[in-house]
Amino acid sequence: TKDAVLVVGGAGYIGSHMAKMLAQAGFGVVILDNLSTGFPDAARYGDLIRGDLSNQALLDRLFHEHAFVAVLHFAALSQVGESVRAPALYYRNNVANTQNLLDAMLRHDVRRFIFSSSAAIFGEPASAYIEETHPQRPINPYGRSKRMVEEMLADYDHAYGLRSVSLRYFNAAGADPEGELGERHDPESHLIPLVLQAANGRREHIAIYGDDYPTPDGTCVRDYIHVWDLCSAHLLALEHLLADGRSDVFNLGNGAGFSVQEVIDTTRRVTGRDIPAIVQGRRAGDPAVLVADSQKARRALGWEPRFQELETIISHAWGWERAKGEAW
Ligand code: UFG
Repeated sequence: TKDAVLVVGGAGYIGSHMAKMLAQAGFGVVILDNLSTGFPDAARYGDLIRGDLSNQALLDRLFHEHAFVAVLHFAALSQVGESVRAPALYYRNNVANTQNLLDAMLRHDVRRFIFSSSAAIFGEPASAYIEETHPQRPINPYGRSKRMVEEMLADYDHAYGLRSVSLRYFNAAGADPEGELGERHDPESHLIPLVLQAANGRREHIAIYGDDYPTPDGTCVRDYIHVWDLCSAHLLALEHLLADGRSDVFNLGNGAGFSVQEVIDTTRRVTGRDIPAIVQGRRAGDPAVLVADSQKARRALGWEPRFQELETIISHAWGWERAKGEAW
């Protein structure tokens, strides 16, 4: 029988791509998702159990029924602005519920864990390229919730031998290269899907949140990483833990920054469409530049991103928008 893994949040954007890659790599995939932001038809590469991490009895039943070799945890609320307005929601969902999951793992002697962390733990960075050792000063409850879990994981390793890898995503983007899965948030807040909606006539224009940042063209610079490359890093992290590797943390990005204006210009080229853009004021809590130094993941995990070109990332996402967008 195949090794079974639990993918929490496997009906969401990154989790659904991960479930596919895991299934293709020969793992048995069970997905736990409360469908608060995920979609059941995205969970097509695993057995979907609808449920919430606050439900201890459900967790006990799941861990009793399956001999999971590891848990991958993608389920979290991830809207920075919402986290400022409703921190209780974020600490409940992202911290307390993650602790429920870890404690259920310990009760059932499952001790390998992969955690979706975020560049948001760094806040306003002090240097251009962010290494793993960069000081952590999150500037919103979302970022703090991710940092708290990383700290919890260090303590659980020390005290209980729970081995984990935390992967700090920069800007996840793109879609399944085979076109089966893609990014879908409701409401959508991320730059690339919004620009593509504008390209597809589903929105009148794209708003540029500020053009007075200290960057070459005045718009914010981000490190967009293809979702499939993110997933391949998780697979390597899983293999590392299955080979009894120690706990670790990695920053995951392409190592190249693109401005909001460059994303819009590239999308115009890729789609051949006019995309009206309107400069608006800054969005609260946006750092000017966020770019990862991902050398450590390459060195320690042997990670090799395949889809580093912004054109490729956008064209995969464009394929998904054209195939599925109108239906929503
Ligand atoms: N932007 C626009 N117009 C839009 C949407 C976004 O100009 O309509 C800009 C933003 O201001 C930002 C950039 O495009 O400068 C990227 O914005 P996204 O919302 O796509 O992504 P973020 O960088 O804000 O967020 C990502 C993750 C979060 C995480 C954060 C860490 O999605 O989960 O990085 O800072 F918290």
